[in-house]
Amino acid sequence: MTRLLLRGFDIRKNYLNTSAQTELVQVLRPVLKSAPLFHPTTPSGKKMSVRMTSAGNLGWVSDKRGYRYQDTHPNGVVWPAIPDQIASIWHDVTGVARLPECCLINYYGDGTRMGMHQDKDEADFSWPVVSISLGDDALFRIGNTTRGGKTESIWLGSGDVVIMGGPARLAYHGVDRIRFGSSRLLPKGGRINLTLRVAT
Ligand code: SIN
Ligand code: MN
Repeated sequence: MTRLLLRGFDIRKNYLNTSAQTELVQVLRPVLKSAPLFHPTTPSGKKMSVRMTSAGNLGWVSDKRGYRYQDTHPNGVVWPAIPDQIASIWHDVTGVARLPECCLINYYGDGTRMGMHQDKDEADFSWPVVSISLGDDALFRIGNTTRGGKTESIWLGSGDVVIMGGPARLAYHGVDRIRFGSSRLLPKGGRINLTLRVAT
């Protein structure tokens, strides 16, 4: 593992070894079965290229009514629980005893990206957000706490964990592109990013 600080983003390269990554993919299988990935639409009606779902008491959704956390999948079913293996990464890297309420699961297929944004649908920004990357490499861009200005990018690989806390908690960030096929962790290729969040 190597630790890197980039604009307050605490980046743990190779935090998870290959067997830990494989175990996470296994525990995510039943989660994705009961809460299938869907393409959220932005409030302005644009379909996002990334597919998403959640585990936990609350899940993040977006549609014409806006961005929000809610207690059911758009199909009406309650979200599955956050697997222990994922919650324990949160406890290990943050030291926070409180459980995250949401594990947002993003799936990046070939050609997908995520525009620059802030994570600000949570009630209390003093809690960190923890991100776990699995599968293909992603070019992650970090900006400022206001839109625009100079940015810096870093490739996130499978097993990397990023902690967004303190002043970095409200920094703009996004994913410019993925290197589709760069990892063999996911049978169909692509990238899974998990973000653990305290929402209320
Ligand atoms: C996100 O900002 O929700 C995802 C970040 C990532 O995919 O690395
Ligand atoms: Mn985000």
